[in-house]
Amino acid sequence: MCEPHTSAPEASADVFRDPDTGFTFSQYNAPITTGSTSIAMRIAIPSPAPSGTPYDAVIQVVAPISAGWVGVAWGGSMTNNPLLVGWANGASAVTSMRRATAHTAPTAYTGATLQVLKGGTKTNGTHWQFTAKCTGCTQFTTTGTTTKTLNPAGTNRLAFAYSKAKPSQPASESSPINVHDLFNYWEHDFASAGNAAFQDLVAKNA
Ligand code: HEM
Repeated sequence: MCEPHTSAPEASADVFRDPDTGFTFSQYNAPITTGSTSIAMRIAIPSPAPSGTPYDAVIQVVAPISAGWVGVAWGGSMTNNPLLVGWANGASAVTSMRRATAHTAPTAYTGATLQVLKGGTKTNGTHWQFTAKCTGCTQFTTTGTTTKTLNPAGTNRLAFAYSKAKPSQPASESSPINVHDLFNYWEHDFASAGNAAFQDLVAKNA
């Protein structure tokens, strides 16, 4: 884990160089209690990544062992965008793409695909983490035919949700999940998330 930082969360530009996977991630530490507990949200993208076209992203989420599931909303709200949900499953982790049109349980979403990267997925006594490549998380339809593309050279507003309760079928990516205990928004800096060796690192950690 990184040291706590004093910069304002909405202006987060932390960079985390992951010794496990070799990726350079831009990172946001999402506070989940009034104390110092946070969930690290890390994003790595290819460099260069052309603007206006889709590009893959690698996301790494590091959560306290007490977290049941963590979700990241790539469009910055619960509805009408890809929701990436992950949780611990023994020493490994399970990830699942979902989507919702209302504030009710999201359903499976096939518009984005995930590849869990073993090199960055683990559990210890205090934290669990997953690392996954997403194809379809940086460009997606919102409502109707409206397409949103995340800016690889600036900040994008994302949202997260977290639940203390574990999914009831942790081995299954289609497991039911309970409603979250907390959600929030942040501006994630993609400009500092670039990795020239992106494809090699994906292959190396797969
Ligand atoms: C069973 C699953 C879920 C249920 C029943 C559920 C239900 C709800 C409800 C009722 C609200 C409104 C709460 C309020 O206004 O105080 C809400 C808001 C929200 N939820 Fe969920 N949710 C679920 C899963 C998720 C997941 C997987 C994400 C992924 C990130 C998510 C992200 C959000 C966000 C960001 C909000 C804030 C409002 C918005 O931006 O749309 N939720 N949810």
